[in-house]
Amino acid sequence: MPIIAPSILAANFLQLQQTCTMLNESKADWFHLDIMDGRFVPNISFGIPVVNAIKKATSKILDVHLMIVEPEKYIDDFKKAGADSITVHVEACPHLHRNIQQIKDAGLKAGVALNPHTPICMLENILSDIDMVLIMSVNPGFGGQSFIPNSLHKIKELRKLLNKVAPEVLIEVDGGITLKNAAAVIQSGANVLVAGSAIFNTQHPDATIEQFKIVV
Ligand code: DX5
Ligand code: ZN
Repeated sequence: MPIIAPSILAANFLQLQQTCTMLNESKADWFHLDIMDGRFVPNISFGIPVVNAIKKATSKILDVHLMIVEPEKYIDDFKKAGADSITVHVEACPHLHRNIQQIKDAGLKAGVALNPHTPICMLENILSDIDMVLIMSVNPGFGGQSFIPNSLHKIKELRKLLNKVAPEVLIEVDGGITLKNAAAVIQSGANVLVAGSAIFNTQHPDATIEQFKIVV
């Protein structure tokens, strides 16, 4: 069964409390929190105080996706706010190994995200140090975009490589995931599905989450 990580970005921010209650009672595994800085990506989302507030409303895992430059400045703050796992972008980290060590030293799970154009081989020398790879299946910055089909090739290639060198590393896929393409994503080798609009733009998000759990 896939791990389902609803992206709060697509939720109604005026009703965060109700959203947390709904997710707590749903089959959602993680909360996916998209942090955007208006520099690495052309959009600004929300920051540390919101992560802190959500932490108080759930005991589920907070999966923090940092779409920011210089993430090293904020790792401790996100840990204090309640992050369980922090994912940084390879494109934003000239000293990726150091950034990963910092996240691990803070006692958190560490993930590395790849933009759609970034090849899997960029990860070759970091795979044994991380817990998760996040394959972006849209260009990061906005919810509600269409899934880029080439992502399936990347997931398959990564799964093959991981099977050889680090089979316990999770593959998370983020962007344009729907009930229609979720099965193909899982069958290609992914373990974690992030979904924003496909969950929150439905009448019964909790029922949709349940459908995502049984997609394969
Ligand atoms: C995009 C974010 C995603 C986004 C997914 O930059 O990283 O997590 O919220 O939204 P959907 O599922 O609507 O594509
Ligand atoms: Zn994300």
